[in-house]
Amino acid sequence: MRLKEPTPKKTPAGPHYVRDPITSGSHFVLRGDSRKLHFRKQFDLVLTSPPFFHPSRRDPRHGYTPSTRNVLEYSAYVAAVLARAAKTLGSNGFLCVLKTDLWFQGKHIPIAYPIVEECCRHNVNLISHWIWQRRAHFSPYSPAFTHILLLSPKSGRRPSVPDVIYQPNATLHFQEPQIFATLIRLLTEEGATILDPFVGTGAVVEAAENTGRLAVGIEISDTQFRLAQRRLQEVANVVFGELDDCQRSVK
Ligand SMILES: C[S@@+](CC[C@H](N)C(=O)[O-])C[C@H]1O[C@@H](n2cnc3c(N)ncnc32)[C@H](O)[C@@H]1O
Repeated sequence: MRLKEPTPKKTPAGPHYVRDPITSGSHFVLRGDSRKLHFRKQFDLVLTSPPFFHPSRRDPRHGYTPSTRNVLEYSAYVAAVLARAAKTLGSNGFLCVLKTDLWFQGKHIPIAYPIVEECCRHNVNLISHWIWQRRAHFSPYSPAFTHILLLSPKSGRRPSVPDVIYQPNATLHFQEPQIFATLIRLLTEEGATILDPFVGTGAVVEAAENTGRLAVGIEISDTQFRLAQRRLQEVANVVFGELDDCQRSVK
């Protein structure tokens, strides 16, 4: 059964609302649909964890998810957003995507690889593949390993970090936003700009703040957007607004 797609509600822009997020020196969390995003080439990293997928389970805590049955349809949805996000990357930019596969009826259902295959159709290719071993295994339907996919719209480019990151046992368990902060430090310099097209409750924005980078996050679900507002209430330089308003000036 297909979930009804939420229509983001309009809110008036706040007093410090600036149209071009990155030049403003603030983080931005924008309500809207990332399938329509079209910022100019200004980001150093796209860092994101795509929506939840399960063949039969709907869980509103995970925000909006495009399809609850068909992994190929789901992958095409995610890859379309990632391909659009890739167009916002500057010349040295990468996409870094975190995705956990699924346990379903005793079987391991791959979800990360179908996303990679769909990305290839958009000429966004896998350049590195890391594994994040999550020690605290809290979910009955996801394995304890998360794929960390490094993708690039340019072939033959690899980040200058090793394929296998060794971390002693004591540090293997990261909670968001710590895993995002680790990846931000590995993949970008201080002051870099980061885009999260599936920002959810805003962990990537929090990680960007904690590591001295600037982030723009986009979220389609009103509920998740409100959770991001709550999570980021202590962060001084974050602006909440509408994707449509923000993009009008950069068409
Ligand atoms: C796995 S969650 C992200 C979790 C995130 N790291 C956090 O800090 O909560 C994926 C999010 O993508 C959102 N989403 C799904 N489709 C979207 C779209 N087309 N545009 C923007 N957000 C979308 C979902 O509502 C969900 O909140």
